[in-house]
Amino acid sequence: MRILVTGGAGYIGSHTCVELLARGDAVTVIDNLSNSREESLRRVEGLTGREVDFHRVDLLDRPGLDRVMAIAQPESVIHFAGLKAVGESVREPLRYHQNNVAGTLHLVEAMAAIGCRRLVFSSSATVYGHGAPPLREAAPLGATNPYGKTKWIIEEICRDLAASDPAWRIALLRYFNPVGAHPSGQIGEDPQGLPNNLMPYVLQVAVGRLPHLNVFGTDWPTPDGTGIRDYLHVVDLARGHLAAVDHLDRLAGCVAINLGTGRGTSVLELVSGVERASGKRVPWQPSSRRSGDVAVSFADPTLAKELLGWTAELGLDAMCSDAWRWQVGNPRGFAAAP
Ligand code: NAD
Ligand code: UD1
Repeated sequence: MRILVTGGAGYIGSHTCVELLARGDAVTVIDNLSNSREESLRRVEGLTGREVDFHRVDLLDRPGLDRVMAIAQPESVIHFAGLKAVGESVREPLRYHQNNVAGTLHLVEAMAAIGCRRLVFSSSATVYGHGAPPLREAAPLGATNPYGKTKWIIEEICRDLAASDPAWRIALLRYFNPVGAHPSGQIGEDPQGLPNNLMPYVLQVAVGRLPHLNVFGTDWPTPDGTGIRDYLHVVDLARGHLAAVDHLDRLAGCVAINLGTGRGTSVLELVSGVERASGKRVPWQPSSRRSGDVAVSFADPTLAKELLGWTAELGLDAMCSDAWRWQVGNPRGFAAAP
């Protein structure tokens, strides 16, 4: 299949490109490299022995987008491109709405212009706001920050689009907490600056770049007092996109689907997992709760199994050991690459 991947140089996009190329799909990537480096795609090519048709284009550049669409003629689009830092979105809401929402409008218009109406979109469990787990797709939506609102708004736009034209087939994939890296250690998450999320922070403590982890709350109503999340191996997540692309024709219009394991892991359990995988101690200190956090969040992954035949297969040990292999082999991410 000919597949266009927006944001394909990024963390989840690069892992998805590996899986697509490995099974023989033709992959075109659009990325403005605002949060990634082309080196990730070179490594994707090295891992698969196949070429990525890469275009450094911004989704806000509509003529540029049209040019790539016309050449690539994709049968399906997987849309990862977006800004994703919650705190930054609170400080710069217009930039988030412009990039994520307006960028998506350009994308679906450019798709319609060449007659491509098959789309897989990166949504997030953040659209459940403070909902109670296990989170099902029918749960009420509610975002607590501008980043989350862009995901919610884009979901609504996709629902309107599919209702207006039955030719559209759209999967809104609501990811829980993607972590880990390709087992080769060649590609992985490369956060710029201080990591916001738990796993990259813990890895940087383990590798000695940061002195200790601040645990945001040790008095949550959970067995060890720390927050519980549904961590999901990025390779499982990447495979979820292939399953979604393959099942688009069987979906009725626009459908939201959780991608998670259905299992919860606490902050301290994840810290222990990284300690086991790395053989290093991860010093941590109790710190106050982060605003907007919830005690427990995990998916009900039943619908993904029913509609896509997809379930997560890799457990916490694989997530930690694969993430560690990437971190230790690339302590400064892709930046140190020639
Ligand atoms: P990432 O930042 O590594 O990848 C996103 C890519 O999109 C980057 O390469 C960036 O350069 C590119 N990009 C951003 N704006 C663009 C634009 N206007 N035009 C072209 N390229 C643009 O992030 P990721 O972790 O791989 O996330 C991918 C998607 O999944 C995002 O939409 C994110 O919101 C969503 N998501 C991520 C998580 C997570 O924890 N990583 C969780 C839920 C949802
Ligand atoms: C965060 C985002 C959410 C986004 C998700 C995936 C916030 C408020 N929420 O959620 O919108 O969809 O990432 O990208 O930013 N923790 C620490 N110390 C740290 C970092 C995290 O104790 O330095 C704890 C958190 O309190 C939480 C757990 O680790 O209990 C996981 O945090 P994180 O990786 O940021 O994910 P989410 O909280 O699920």
